[in-house]
Amino acid sequence: MARVPASPTSPAPTASAAALKKMLARREGLMGPNAPLFYQQPLVIARGKGVWLHDAAGRRYLDAYNNVPHVGHCHPAVVKAVQRQMSRLNTHTRYLDAAVLDYHERLLDKFPRRLGRVVLTCTGSEANDLALRIARQQTGHQGVIVTDWTYHGNTTAVAEISSAYNPAPTPPHVRLVRAPQADSGAGADAGAAFVADVRQAIADLRERGFGVAALLIDTIFSTDGLHAVPKGCVKQAVALVREAGGLFIADEVQPGFGRLGSCWWGFENHGVVPDLVTLGKSMGNGFPLAGVVGTRELIAGFRQEVMYFNTFGASHAACAAGSAVLDVIDNEDLLANAQAVGEQLLVAMRGLRDAHTCIGDIRGQGLFLGVEIVQDRQSHAPDADAAARIVERMKDAGVLVSKIGRHDHVLKIRPPMPFGSRHARLLVQALDRALQMPR
Ligand SMILES: Cc1ncc(COP(=O)(O)O)c(C=O)c1O
Repeated sequence: MARVPASPTSPAPTASAAALKKMLARREGLMGPNAPLFYQQPLVIARGKGVWLHDAAGRRYLDAYNNVPHVGHCHPAVVKAVQRQMSRLNTHTRYLDAAVLDYHERLLDKFPRRLGRVVLTCTGSEANDLALRIARQQTGHQGVIVTDWTYHGNTTAVAEISSAYNPAPTPPHVRLVRAPQADSGAGADAGAAFVADVRQAIADLRERGFGVAALLIDTIFSTDGLHAVPKGCVKQAVALVREAGGLFIADEVQPGFGRLGSCWWGFENHGVVPDLVTLGKSMGNGFPLAGVVGTRELIAGFRQEVMYFNTFGASHAACAAGSAVLDVIDNEDLLANAQAVGEQLLVAMRGLRDAHTCIGDIRGQGLFLGVEIVQDRQSHAPDADAAARIVERMKDAGVLVSKIGRHDHVLKIRPPMPFGSRHARLLVQALDRALQMPR
């Protein structure tokens, strides 16, 4: 078993400072400035296996952050499936192939019967872009309602609704509402406030002639800060949107494929079946694979009017990767693992909260947890600097986590799904030590 170093303050024996500087300059020279990077001293990762990443100097890090390698970095079943398919054939959907159809069928089996069609893409951004396109075409409306600190991707249409990382003014056909937040620092009426905001947004969009094409939400409200969501409020908001002729689009790019442990999809928590569901990230375990699942009527209506073709979406190799991911999730019982280890982590984090007053709420579900870092529990004032320090110290101690939320003060814990009990203990130990260190 890997050991978290006893002295987490000692710098990681990674690439030399000079080599790192040279690589950073080269990167900027090629990619331009401000291309995002993790950590003050960025990592040069050379390989990965399961829940471990190894840097170029041979040091290993416990990965408690990355969700794209859903079934574990370089899972042999996925690697083998892709290698085999790539060495045989990899083309697109304009030729017939039973294995490609098998994957579509297996994926749809994971959804309620109402959602009987799927269109595959390569990225979550493309999936959300396509879902918006379907919603607008099928409803005849333009307006979209989203939460006010969220991320849904990087195409032009999707950047317009990604309030968290887009400094451009919100376009007139987009309405932002506050995510429902029933955490200890927020009001008790968070659910009612969310529904009232959605009602207001609908009225406003209609008055201005846009109508409502969709309410589009990340069903775990991850970028928003992983807030506790009052039961029933999403369902009520969806009912209002449907009454106004709009659709409910569930973005499952973050919570999907069992990350929450008790369910395959985050929308199950809200007791409402969406009209369209968008998928990505974890779906191909690193192979670009994403898509939109929807009702038969919506997808048929769209397809009849639009020639939608995606060169790489649903390629043979992508479907082989996706199929292997479904196999591994089931064969390794990864939902049960997410639920059990997630509960273990919640209990341990609550224990840490008793010892460290800078911990505010402990949020999340399954293997998607948030630890809020505050200045003190009375004011509940966010402490982004402390959160940033903790992330750096944990990295120095060999454990990778990140941050989310409007104030960038919620530690984001979202490991590959085979994260086990012993990994959870290492994570909690490293967090405890990072919290004990002086400012
Ligand atoms: C909730 C959510 N939706 C969509 C996307 C976009 O996915 P991609 O980066 O694959 O385009 C992301 C990416 O972080 C996301 O977090």
